[in-house]
Amino acid sequence: MNRQSDRLIRTEEPEAWWEAVYRDAPITTQWDDGTYTGPGRGRFPSSSNSMPTMVFSMLDALSVEPGHRVLEIGTGTGWNAALLSQRLGAENVFTVEVDESSAETARKRLEDAGFHPATVIGDGAEGYAQGAPYDRVIATASIGRVPRQWLAQTKPGGIIVAPWGPTYGGEAVVRLTVADDGSASGPFLGSSAFMRLRAQRTDRKHIREYLGGRPWPADAHRSTTSLSPEAVGDWPVMFVIGVQVPDAFPWAETYDDGSYTLWLRDTSVTSWATTDYIPGHEEFEVYQSGPRRLWEEVESVYRWWDAQGRPGFERFGLTVDAERERVWLDRPGNFLGSA
Ligand SMILES: C[S@@+](CC[C@H](N)C(=O)[O-])C[C@H]1O[C@@H](n2cnc3c(N)ncnc32)[C@H](O)[C@@H]1O
Repeated sequence: MNRQSDRLIRTEEPEAWWEAVYRDAPITTQWDDGTYTGPGRGRFPSSSNSMPTMVFSMLDALSVEPGHRVLEIGTGTGWNAALLSQRLGAENVFTVEVDESSAETARKRLEDAGFHPATVIGDGAEGYAQGAPYDRVIATASIGRVPRQWLAQTKPGGIIVAPWGPTYGGEAVVRLTVADDGSASGPFLGSSAFMRLRAQRTDRKHIREYLGGRPWPADAHRSTTSLSPEAVGDWPVMFVIGVQVPDAFPWAETYDDGSYTLWLRDTSVTSWATTDYIPGHEEFEVYQSGPRRLWEEVESVYRWWDAQGRPGFERFGLTVDAERERVWLDRPGNFLGSA
């Protein structure tokens, strides 16, 4: 049986269940916001027990100390809230979950384990003002924009740890320290791939909406490029592209012979581009349509990233203030364009 795609019920297969729980891998606990309950996979995972090493590295980055009050966004199974409760005392732990049934199940589980943190059903993007101010805020759902309520509800000097990534893809955990003026800044720590905070999900329209009923390539402009689509597919370069090519996202249409078409689309459904990857080729065919030349945008960011020595996540950081949210390279203030 393929454990990647099958449901595992503790009472039916306790050994396999415990083995899965202790494996260093994420376990999906809900599909499609709970609307899919059948066996196997739904369309998208909407809740999970995160990978243990990721949980521990984020808790490590949170640097909690006795007496700290902590807000967690994304209760999920309740495991992280249990760990925090064990360390700090449940009276110092506030956890918010948008999904009612996950929240109720987690609350019950936490109670059964002897922990009674404040388990709140609500939109974590709002934070939880009733428990503020917090010394620490940890998000276990990813964001593309730091909700300003989190800054307002964190004490100066407090720390916010959250998976942050642009719409395009590429994501890493950021560790922000809140300043006296209410802004926050800090480094990215390392790659992550969390499910998105519900309110920040992107509505991705189907390709046919971009083509306006006409067959591909419709009215697109044709050109060629020497940059392989293979070069722009890794997580760190996707992050850099996403920061500087905002409101766009990629999708690969794969074919049996190992070739594929990289589709780029903008979220406002005005522009698209395709680049065809064929193994062994050195020139690749590009089609672009709409006011944005999306492949050219991607290519120019790739060239910039390459010229910087192909920095990984650890060379980037984020500064957030009331108006803006900007990614920097190597030192605060050395901001990347756009975003
Ligand atoms: C990776 S899971 C959390 C794992 C959890 N910390 C644990 O220990 O099991 C992400 C959770 O974030 C929740 N979520 C998504 N959007 C949210 C929002 N706006 N507010 C609160 N929770 C949200 C999802 O429903 C999901 O349960």
